[in-house]
Amino acid sequence: MKNQYILVTGGAGFIGSNFIKYFLSKYINYYIVNLDLLTYAGNLENLKEVESHERYKFVKGDILNRELIEYLFSEYKFEGVIHFAAESHVDNSILNPHTFIETNINGTHNLIDIAYKFWRKNSIKGRFHHISTDEVYGTLGKTGLFTETTPYAPNSPYSASKAGSDMIVRSYHHTYGLDTIITNCSNNYGEKQHDEKLIPTIIRNALQGNNIPIYGDGKNIRDWLYVLDHCKGIDLAFHNGKSGETYNIGGRNERENNYIADKICEILDQKVPKAQSYKKQITYVTDRLGHDKRYAIDATKLENELGWKADENFETGIVKTS
Ligand SMILES: NC(=O)c1ccc[n+]([C@@H]2O[C@H](COP(=O)([O-])OP(=O)(O)OC[C@H]3O[C@@H](n4cnc5c(N)ncnc54)[C@H](O)[C@@H]3O)[C@@H](O)[C@H]2O)c1
Repeated sequence: MKNQYILVTGGAGFIGSNFIKYFLSKYINYYIVNLDLLTYAGNLENLKEVESHERYKFVKGDILNRELIEYLFSEYKFEGVIHFAAESHVDNSILNPHTFIETNINGTHNLIDIAYKFWRKNSIKGRFHHISTDEVYGTLGKTGLFTETTPYAPNSPYSASKAGSDMIVRSYHHTYGLDTIITNCSNNYGEKQHDEKLIPTIIRNALQGNNIPIYGDGKNIRDWLYVLDHCKGIDLAFHNGKSGETYNIGGRNERENNYIADKICEILDQKVPKAQSYKKQITYVTDRLGHDKRYAIDATKLENELGWKADENFETGIVKTS
């Protein structure tokens, strides 16, 4: 494979940082420029191991900054973009939707528009890979799975902003023939996740002796995906996915929030034992507004067409998560 530069956005966040490390170690032909604004969610410590890697460069900047991104394209002649940058926390979107619309919708539009125009002008066959969420499909009842043809029905400002960004990417493929891929994944967990998300919140509060807050009755269900399985799915879709297609990535690991909290407490009871079980710290708190009940992904398309398979189930992945 020939050497090429790719632009990764949001690479100082949870999934992006795992992806950059995975990609640099797997391939020797990619040079990665990581564009990240370093919001509260971005942390360069996540990339400590690769900060001086010869094929890696960090640029602090906003995906809304047209001038900067145009400069980066002209400087590095990117042949691919893998777009992780986003405001990603549903609770924050309920408090402050504006930033979500700005970053997730306008930022994605800015980025894809620059990529499209640069690639057209320079006759480069670039690929734009957009990372999205299963939350765009809304919520499920007790049965059923999200497939790539499930109608969009986002319920939170976060999922609405991601749905909007997916539609922009879709439109650049259909209108301009841009080579695009969208992957919609379920809830990730693993190393380097921000403290605000459910699993780090459980672990941190447990170890600090605080109440472990669980929304509502704890019966909401998510389909948990180990972050490195996600990275492998992105890798396959980026290299072998069919242009203009969407691929769902989910771990086939539906678990109730109550189960997640209990399981983590059981692991901590063994690893860091104390007088009484960490389970005693579990406390139910007022439910999130508009809280979706159940998400579950049918990943058959990625499995059958591209040969992806999750290596971890929740029980094996969680013990690798520190
Ligand atoms: N974490 C999950 O479970 C999950 C599930 C489905 C989809 N996703 C999607 O995956 C992507 C990555 O998620 P994550 O959990 O790693 O998010 P994260 O919040 O950990 O990281 C987001 C990164 O984007 C950067 N960023 C934010 N605004 C920016 C801007 N305007 N310009 C440049 N950089 C900016 C932040 O500094 C941060 O480093 C997001 O697009 C998210 O919607 C995440």
